[in-house]
Amino acid sequence: MILQPFPDLERLSLAAAQLFARLAAEAVKTRGRFSVALSGGSTPRRTYEILAQPPYRDEVPWGCVHVFWGDERCVPPSDSRCNASMAREAWLNHVPVPSTQIHPISCHPAQEIGAREYESLFRDFFGGKPPRLDLVFLGLGADGHTASLFPNNAALNERERWTAAVQVPGEDIRRVTLTPVIINQAAVVAFIVAGAAKAGALKEVLQGPRDPRRLPGQLIEPENGELYWLVDRDAAQAMS
Ligand code: 6PG
Repeated sequence: MILQPFPDLERLSLAAAQLFARLAAEAVKTRGRFSVALSGGSTPRRTYEILAQPPYRDEVPWGCVHVFWGDERCVPPSDSRCNASMAREAWLNHVPVPSTQIHPISCHPAQEIGAREYESLFRDFFGGKPPRLDLVFLGLGADGHTASLFPNNAALNERERWTAAVQVPGEDIRRVTLTPVIINQAAVVAFIVAGAAKAGALKEVLQGPRDPRRLPGQLIEPENGELYWLVDRDAAQAMS
C-alpha cells in the first residue's frame, strides 16, 4: 500500500492524472489497450478536468483507452448525481476515446439485470480470462464506503459476482456497483480522498481495527496489484 499525501486537492488531482497517464502509456505499450474503472462522486472531478487538458489531452493514447465505472447511481443522465455524466462533461467529451470504448453502467429497470449486464460486458471484454483492470479509481465516503459498497450492505458478502445491485437505506435511488471480487483483481487501485470530512473515515480505514462490514474501504486489497491512497492534507489530518 502506497500512501501519498498532498498539500491540497489540486496537487492531489495532478498526481492522480499523472498516475493515469503513466499506467495508460505502459498498458498500451505492452498490451495494446488500457482499461480503467472510474470513481463517482465529486472528488475526482478535478482529476478528470486535468486529463481533458494539455499535456494529457495530447499525450494519452486515447484510441486504446477503455472506460468503465466502479459504480453508478440509477438516475437519468441529466441528473447531477449521474457519475457517467459528470465524467463525460468534465473529461470524456473533450478527448478522443472512441464512444464504443466508453461503457457506462446501464441501470436496467430491473436493477439486478443491469448488474448482470455489466458483468457480462466485463466477461466479453476480458475474453473469459480473469478481469484484470489496469486501473480502478475509488473514492471514500465519510462513512467508510467506497464505490457503492456501503456499511453492512449485502453486496459486501459477494464472493463470486463482479457486480451487485445496491439499495442504500434512506436513499431514494438504486445503485449498481463493482464488488471487491473484481476490484481486487485490478493491477492498480487508487483511492482519491480529499477534505476534512473524510479524516475520520480515512484514519479508521487505514489505521483502525479491521472491521470491513462497518468500513467497506478495508475490503479493497488487490490480490496481485498495487494499492495507492492519494490523499490531501485535510483528509489526512487525523492520521498518526
Ligand atoms: C458514488 C461514489 C462514491 C464516492 C464517495 C465519495 O457513486 O457514490 O463512487 O463511492 O466515491 O461517496 O464521494 P465524494 O467524492 O463526492 O466525497
